Amino acid sequence: MPTQALPLRQASEFAAEVRAGLTKPGQRELPSKYLYDEAGSALFEVICVLPEYGLRRADARLLQRYAEEVVDGLPLPVLVAELGSGSGKKTRWILEALSRRQRTYYFPIEISSSALAACAKELGHIELVSIVGYEQPYLEGLAAAAERRGSDEHLLVLFLGSTIGNFDRDAGDEFLREVRAILSPGDALLLSTDLVKQVSQLLPAYDDPAGVTAAFNRNLLCRLNRELGSNFDLSAFAHEARWNARERRIEMHLRSIRKQRVEIPVAELSFTLEKGETLWTESSHKYYAEEVLAMAARTGYRCDGQWVDREWPFAQNLFIAE
Ligand code: AVJ
Repeated sequence: MPTQALPLRQASEFAAEVRAGLTKPGQRELPSKYLYDEAGSALFEVICVLPEYGLRRADARLLQRYAEEVVDGLPLPVLVAELGSGSGKKTRWILEALSRRQRTYYFPIEISSSALAACAKELGHIELVSIVGYEQPYLEGLAAAAERRGSDEHLLVLFLGSTIGNFDRDAGDEFLREVRAILSPGDALLLSTDLVKQVSQLLPAYDDPAGVTAAFNRNLLCRLNRELGSNFDLSAFAHEARWNARERRIEMHLRSIRKQRVEIPVAELSFTLEKGETLWTESSHKYYAEEVLAMAARTGYRCDGQWVDREWPFAQNLFIAE
């Protein structure tokens, strides 16, 4: 059986987005969200335990250390909705701190059913916590979760892992505004942001010596070959991670090491990739701590708390909807 073929509507969306990215004038792109099929998600979990990749550990350290303080800053009672359930491990600290104060409803929102199942398995047994998963895109799931609250209940939205960094800065602002539109004044958003740091510390996190990130990146082309019938020659692509200083982001690319003809039947597309030409597969934006305060202010929140990890500069930010 082929692994997890997409439902029809999503499959044609996938083909259309791939086509749009690959036919952009100038730099060809692939949408980064498609990195996370079953193999891609498993490779990302391996990235998170590599010594060079400090993000996940910094994120978890901050939540472990400061969960009580974060929760003390919240208007109770709150329902918790998480954008992307991930593996659920970091969220445990917040849910446990909350469960010492109230009965807690937790709504993980995730388009991958296997990730939702893993999350329920990880977090399903905390006393005084009830889980209801939403297998939906972030904003649709969040709107559904928001509808479930009673008149005295607030909402706490978790957006962890610095996933916001995948958005360009303008799109990130727009996303924060869209979340804000679903919230009421006084509701909270706990946002993780990876901070600007030494390039010598950052680059190996995205180009590790064991080649796991390279495999994660190339897996996107495996997926295209499998699901869209394309003929990318995997051995002819080199993984590349670049620091774009002007945009303050890591960019992942796949560089074609020879001229090749690419056919993607399901996307009704064929083109020639020149020798040395790259496909841009992901951006990971890095922030200054003060910049995050400005982001809050211009998207409809105030930032009530910011906790920073020193070992791997990273911040948890508690936004309150104005
Ligand atoms: C899941 C988006 C936070 O940008 O660091 C890790 C993804 N890409 N290594 C990140 C990723 C390459 C990761 N995020």
